[in-house]
Amino acid sequence: MADIGQPISPSSPTFPGLSYVHPSPTSPWGTYLAQVDRVLPYIGAQARWAETLRRPKRALIVDVPIELDNGEIAHFEGYRVQHNLSRGPGKGGVRYHPHVTLEEVMALSAWMTVKNAAVNLPYGGAKGGIRVDPKKLSFKELERVTRRYTSEIGIIIGPHRDIPAPDVNTNAQVMAWMMDTYSMNTGATATGVVTGKPINLGGSLGRVKATGHGVFVTGREAMRRLKIKLEGARIAIQGFGNVGAPAAELFAASGAKIVAVQDHGGTIYNPGGMDVAALTAHVQQFGSVAGFMGAEVIGAEDFWNVQMDVLIPAALEGQITAARAERLTAKVVLEAANGPTVPEADDILAQRGVAVLPDVICNAGGVIVSYFEWVQDFSSFFWSEDEINMRLDKIITGALGHIWDTAERLKISLRTGAFVVACGRILTAREERGLYP
Ligand SMILES: NC(=O)c1ccc[n+]([C@@H]2O[C@H](COP(=O)([O-])OP(=O)(O)OC[C@H]3O[C@@H](n4cnc5c(N)ncnc54)[C@H](O)[C@@H]3O)[C@@H](O)[C@H]2O)c1
Repeated sequence: MADIGQPISPSSPTFPGLSYVHPSPTSPWGTYLAQVDRVLPYIGAQARWAETLRRPKRALIVDVPIELDNGEIAHFEGYRVQHNLSRGPGKGGVRYHPHVTLEEVMALSAWMTVKNAAVNLPYGGAKGGIRVDPKKLSFKELERVTRRYTSEIGIIIGPHRDIPAPDVNTNAQVMAWMMDTYSMNTGATATGVVTGKPINLGGSLGRVKATGHGVFVTGREAMRRLKIKLEGARIAIQGFGNVGAPAAELFAASGAKIVAVQDHGGTIYNPGGMDVAALTAHVQQFGSVAGFMGAEVIGAEDFWNVQMDVLIPAALEGQITAARAERLTAKVVLEAANGPTVPEADDILAQRGVAVLPDVICNAGGVIVSYFEWVQDFSSFFWSEDEINMRLDKIITGALGHIWDTAERLKISLRTGAFVVACGRILTAREERGLYP
């Protein structure tokens, strides 16, 4: 029996399985906790508050029952986790995927806390998800799932409390339903309750491509610092969705070559560089890169062996394993996805001199423009796309410079550098607010 009253650290193996904060093997939550462990030696006296980072503030699990089109009743598991609210309301996407778990949502919410602090947005971190395969639902079923989930988590979200956004398999339409459901339940249109909405409903120009745009700005700045030419650089991308496709478009427009692309349907390769506009049109029509005529098909595992200068993981977490890290030819990894690199692979890439631009800065473009959307909604005054892109570029470039200098000064990786900057801000806020009561 556990010692009642004793503090339990999630990273301690003393109480396996007893606490929901104890990570199961190879889970993203375990990856996040390992990243936190690495930052502790660099945060001085603030380490006193470090346990805050290892414990989500609030985790809500909800049952989402809906009536299917055929009259049957189906139940889905839904989650909303608010990892930390010290610096402001919760902010983070909602993922629809059959493999979503509480631990995954905990990890994603924690990375949002770090990301928002790393780029100095006035937000805490949150994330949500439903364990569902949306591809198996009709449009109306998807709407019912979304509305019921929104109603269930309505007790903890709101424009000043926690603001969801799109993530894997969710989009502007899902955000429109969420906004409408919340507004119906509260009796007033609340555009600021979600971001990533359609432009008609208080969405922001530039939001759809914002994450890919941020990946491009991060890559451009990193390559400038590393003295790697963007023009002619060979780029491999895993994931060609909301994030991967716009990033590919911007890199190709700057003269880089997209030599390999992998998605859930297949892996394609063209050492001369692909026509990104044609590939985007193909994916829009067929739902996958599979069958694209402008490249040859290669095996899924061969993707990791391709000759490349830059790798952009833009799909799911845990993709860059130790074995793949050993073989990678890339000089730069731009983490467009959340948590794509496992900690052992991080060490291998560091030893091999590969620069890893961590997710918490590299894919922050989405939440930065979400922040712009939220601000615009409150003032009901909307900015031009040029202004949005200019401000996005400035925030990412500034944040990356600060993180890069911190990492160089402390002789640590860019990831740990980003965590040092972010966790310093989070724990300072925690300390200044003080513990309630
Ligand atoms: N959408 C955003 O604004 C945003 C912001 C920050 C971070 N992210 C992260 O970026 C990543 C991608 O998100 P998205 O919004 O582009 O999702 P998406 O659903 O639009 O695209 C996901 C892509 O990954 C591919 N994919 C899925 N499973 C795969 C597999 N097993 N192997 C190879 N490819 C696979 C899909 O085919 C698709 O091309 C996620 O990690 C997400 O958390 C997204």
